[in-house]
Amino acid sequence: MTDPHPSSAFHAPNADPATTEWLVTVLDVQAANPGVRRLREWAHAHLAARPGERALDIGSGTGSETQVLAAAVGPDGIATGLEPNHGLRAVAERRAAEAGSPARFVDGDAFALPLPDGEVDVVRCERVLQHLTDPAKAIAEMARVVRPGGRVALLDTDWATFLLHPASPEIRSALAAIAQAPAATPDAGRRLTGWLSAAGLTVDHVGADVLLHEPGSVPWPLVRGLTTSAVARELITEEQRDDLYAELTTAAEQYAFHLSVTMFAAIAHRPL
Ligand SMILES: C[S@@+](CC[C@H](N)C(=O)[O-])C[C@H]1O[C@@H](n2cnc3c(N)ncnc32)[C@H](O)[C@@H]1O
Repeated sequence: MTDPHPSSAFHAPNADPATTEWLVTVLDVQAANPGVRRLREWAHAHLAARPGERALDIGSGTGSETQVLAAAVGPDGIATGLEPNHGLRAVAERRAAEAGSPARFVDGDAFALPLPDGEVDVVRCERVLQHLTDPAKAIAEMARVVRPGGRVALLDTDWATFLLHPASPEIRSALAAIAQAPAATPDAGRRLTGWLSAAGLTVDHVGADVLLHEPGSVPWPLVRGLTTSAVARELITEEQRDDLYAELTTAAEQYAFHLSVTMFAAIAHRPL
């Protein structure tokens, strides 16, 4: 039987505190990225959660977007973040409390949403599907819990769009292979509309933006993570890694460094 669960650190529901801290750092860096912010705003605008509605954020991470939904649905609505990683859920709960947000967070699994049919008005799910081995099954669950006329927003990365410059073709393909390794479904981004349609939902809007890093500084935690894995899997040698570091450092000094990956989004509704 295929394991329907994701394979990366983002799957570990009982992640140790150090792993959770690292996940939070990664999510916070991404949340601050202009491309991520633009795509999130675009998706919220089209999802258009209204006062009094019931909103569900699946795989809510640090809960920042559940808080946005909570503000949109107001005191007469309910915004719930569903998050199986208890460490991330605790961070989300703490941050919501500190911000005075009524966003609430629950344990749960995208493959078996703890909700009756047609229970929610809006669902959003960002960068979770890439970590699942059976995303279509999770989307069928979303289609089940959203009411007729309700809306669904999916946002996800497509790792085939990973670009790093400067790097030799050999290093580039080794790192691209590694960049895809943590994701069970690395091409989730290009498949969003097909999955939504197959689940009986009508796609209304598609969008995209790029998670683009600054050209003047190398994001070392990310680059070190990728290269360490590439060396461990003997895709590149330690010498190649050190040459790459030197090349990237020089490029950044010259404002010539490039690292990016494209994110896609799709907004759909359940027909009446
Ligand atoms: C890359 S993070 C994205 C978090 C947040 N949506 C964001 O965009 O910042 C992936 C999230 O999916 C959650 N996740 C992984 N497997 C899941 C599952 N089976 N059901 C629900 N959430 C899951 C992880 O715990 C993590 O919070």
